[in-house]
Amino acid sequence: MGDGPSPRRRVVLLTGASVGLGLALARLLMRDSETQLVLTARESSLPRFAEHGITEGERVWLRALDITDDRQRRAVVEEAEQTFGGVDVLINNAGLTYRTVAEYATPLELSHQMAVNYEGPMALSALVLPKMRERKAGRIIQVSSAGGLVAMPTMGLYSASKFALEAASEAMHYEVRPFGIRVSLVLPGFIRSPSFLKSVVGEHSRRATEDPGDPYNPHFTNMDRFIERMMNFAKASPESVASCVLKTMERRRPPLRVLATWDARLLWWFRRFIPHPLNIWLTYRMLPGIRGWGGAEGDETPGTGSSGSPAR
Ligand SMILES: NC(=O)c1ccc[n+]([C@@H]2O[C@H](COP(=O)([O-])OP(=O)(O)OC[C@H]3O[C@@H](n4cnc5c(N)ncnc54)[C@H](OP(=O)(O)O)[C@@H]3O)[C@@H](O)[C@H]2O)c1
Repeated sequence: MGDGPSPRRRVVLLTGASVGLGLALARLLMRDSETQLVLTARESSLPRFAEHGITEGERVWLRALDITDDRQRRAVVEEAEQTFGGVDVLINNAGLTYRTVAEYATPLELSHQMAVNYEGPMALSALVLPKMRERKAGRIIQVSSAGGLVAMPTMGLYSASKFALEAASEAMHYEVRPFGIRVSLVLPGFIRSPSFLKSVVGEHSRRATEDPGDPYNPHFTNMDRFIERMMNFAKASPESVASCVLKTMERRRPPLRVLATWDARLLWWFRRFIPHPLNIWLTYRMLPGIRGWGGAEGDETPGTGSSGSPAR
């Protein structure tokens, strides 16, 4: 991809690279001697690189980047531009999961969730675009989620942020393609990893998980068990999803959406081919123990939401 008078290494900027999927991706990318890597992590997470045997060198830069911090975003991109002439591939991997129900979500939780998963990645994309446009080449890969296709109870903030990322990236895909720049959304479903344990639970929601008398307690306990089970038994690993991201990056014509795991593909298939009201009804029925959640029997009529009108 790199062009210009003398051959230059392909410059890849990766966020959230010190753990999980980001770390797996960093390790894969480090194998390619033609890649100049800018691995970023929050300042407090930078020491993790050394723990994983990753040290700074000519081909690998380690930089502090909190994706919500505009000053840090600009500093990383400017340094890469001044030294290498720009970023060829941006991989927005950093992400965070809030667990809460709509009733207990606070404006602060919502804004932080959106800042990390949506605003930060879009702002960083905007910063690398001018040089990509100049060179008429570039790749932006947004690590989205099956949660960007469907929303589940207690995961509303997370899905809102990934839905927003999906929409904004889809629009950007059309905007920048005439300049030779490709945007792809990679959507993993559940990945076998302990990242579930890192979910941020707001104060009100935490109290609800601990208090069996809270009306939303069954929502949390059932969904916690369900999500933990799905993540523990997921076939996909950070390494397998990382390899899917890498393949997407290497494709000459990468598609806008890449479904990275079998469950993401299944959800996509469901959304496309099953009539929407039936889809919503099936999803409702499949939620663990949902009919007992409110202490009342749920509405099980296909095609109806609680208001009796077609759902969503
Ligand atoms: N795990 C799954 O099952 C799954 C499924 C679908 C999609 N995804 C997506 O895959 C991506 C990677 O997730 P993962 O599974 O590897 O989770 P993870 O192990 O929790 O890693 C998340 C990464 O994001 C970073 N991060 C969080 N807040 C940040 C901020 N403000 N600025 C910069 N970096 C920040 C974390 O850094 P710190 O370590 O410093 O907090 C960490 O490096 C995310 O976008 C996630 O939504 C994951």
